[in-house]
Amino acid sequence: MHILTINGPNLDLLGSREKDIYGKDNLESIENQLHKVARELKISIDCKQSNHEGEIVDWIGQAKDKIDGIIINPAGYTHTSVAIRDAISAVNIPTIEVHLSNVHAREEFRRHSFIVSVCVGQICGFGASSYELALRGLILLLSK
Ligand code: DQA
Repeated sequence: MHILTINGPNLDLLGSREKDIYGKDNLESIENQLHKVARELKISIDCKQSNHEGEIVDWIGQAKDKIDGIIINPAGYTHTSVAIRDAISAVNIPTIEVHLSNVHAREEFRRHSFIVSVCVGQICGFGASSYELALRGLILLLSK
C-alpha cells in the first residue's frame, strides 16, 4: 500500500510559526513519526511539502493509479483552492484532509473548506497527532 502525504504553504515553517496555535514540532519530526508508523503498519509513505498551488495539483494528478490514499494538509489553500479540490475529485483516490489546529474554533473564514467535500473526512485539532490519526484511519479504511 502506497500513501502520499502533502503539506501546503507555510507548513515548512512549523516549529517556529505561531507555536501557540500549531505547536513546537517541525515538519521533519512530523514526517519522521509518519515514517515510523508506516513501518509499523508495513506500508510505504511519501511526504511532500510545497508553497505552490500548481505543484500540489501536479502531485495529485501524478498520483493517479500509483497511490492508494492521500493525506493532505492544504493549509491556507483549504479555504481558497478550487484547483486542489478538482484534482482530488479527478483522481478518485481516498483522501483525508488534516489540520493541526481546530479550524472550526478559529476565525470564520477557516470554517469553510473547498477540499473536505471531496475527501473521506477531516481530522483537525490534535496538533501533530492529527497526521498519525489520519494515517491510521486511512489504512483501516483501505484494509476493509
Ligand atoms: C492549518 C489551518 C489553516 O487554516 C492555516 O491556513 C494553515 C494551517 C492547520 O494545520 O491548522 O496554514 O491547515
